[in-house]
Amino acid sequence: MFPIRRNRRLRTNEAIRGLVRETIITPNDFLVPLFVVEGKGIKEEIASMPNYYRYSLDLLVEEVKTLWNLGLKSVLLFVKVDDNLKDNKGTEALNQNGLMQRAIKTVKDTCPDMLVMTDVALDPFSSYGHDGIVESGKIINDATVEVLAEMSISHAEAGANFVAPSDMMDGRIIGIREGLDQSNFLDVGIMSYSAKYASAFYGPFRDALDSAPVDMANVPKDKKTYQMDFANRDEAIRETEMDINEGADIVMVKPGLSYLDIVRDIRNSFEIPIAVYQVSGEYAMLKAAAEKGWLDHDAVMLEQITSIKRAGADIIASYFAKDVVKLLP
Ligand code: PBG
Repeated sequence: MFPIRRNRRLRTNEAIRGLVRETIITPNDFLVPLFVVEGKGIKEEIASMPNYYRYSLDLLVEEVKTLWNLGLKSVLLFVKVDDNLKDNKGTEALNQNGLMQRAIKTVKDTCPDMLVMTDVALDPFSSYGHDGIVESGKIINDATVEVLAEMSISHAEAGANFVAPSDMMDGRIIGIREGLDQSNFLDVGIMSYSAKYASAFYGPFRDALDSAPVDMANVPKDKKTYQMDFANRDEAIRETEMDINEGADIVMVKPGLSYLDIVRDIRNSFEIPIAVYQVSGEYAMLKAAAEKGWLDHDAVMLEQITSIKRAGADIIASYFAKDVVKLLP
């Protein structure tokens, strides 16, 4: 008889749809990226990221309280560094009284239970805008890993709960883990950007931090010798497996929406928490389309965030976190 099973029964009204819904978004899903600058009283909008801001430490305090009150309990810190503090080795990254170290303390003083994750990579501190040390036109892997380990220890000393290496050097997870353990930071975790692709979606972020690779002779123009080729899928499994074996507590796929096949592959391959970074370009695209009246901002935002979780993300780093949480029932 035609048909016994009618799938539309489970879609009849909102109550039944709610009962059978597979993916529910809560504030616990989010990691909130925060951009910090030197100065006082500064809350400046990032041109290519409407309604997203860089904060000086005094105003960061207010923002952190707002997040906490919305149920957002984890932040990921990035700093915009003054040009005159940048060099090839990212020396300023190790300054105990540097902006990142003060930002960590500021968040912890404001909200001791807020989980603080920190970006670990040289690019915001690099005079060349690269995630590693540049020598003769190349990014030097092992010397960079040493700096990343020291940087991680310095963040741990300032009070960070997790370090998040976003650089894609080989062997940096084991280098950082050993560094943290030798300094007795046994409880400081590592969220590894394990499958991070060389993506054009990072453009607005590089505006936010003024961290794009510089256009100079003997400096690589892009990050393709360390970030992954976006044509590759199996390689993401290899990268992720290595980072897990080196001691990563959480792995990450980045960017988000264009890479959800990778998220599902990793979900099916490993039992480890997976973070997905819905990056700056993804944020900018929706803001621009909504500004033109071409897309319904909130509806598309919720659909995209739900898709990321449905693909297999446990944690979503997103510039939309506050906007989403305000819409939750
Ligand atoms: C750099 C870093 C980048 C992002 C996070 N960490 C940019 C890059 O690799 O050039 C991008 C985040 C975003 O676009 O939102 N280590």
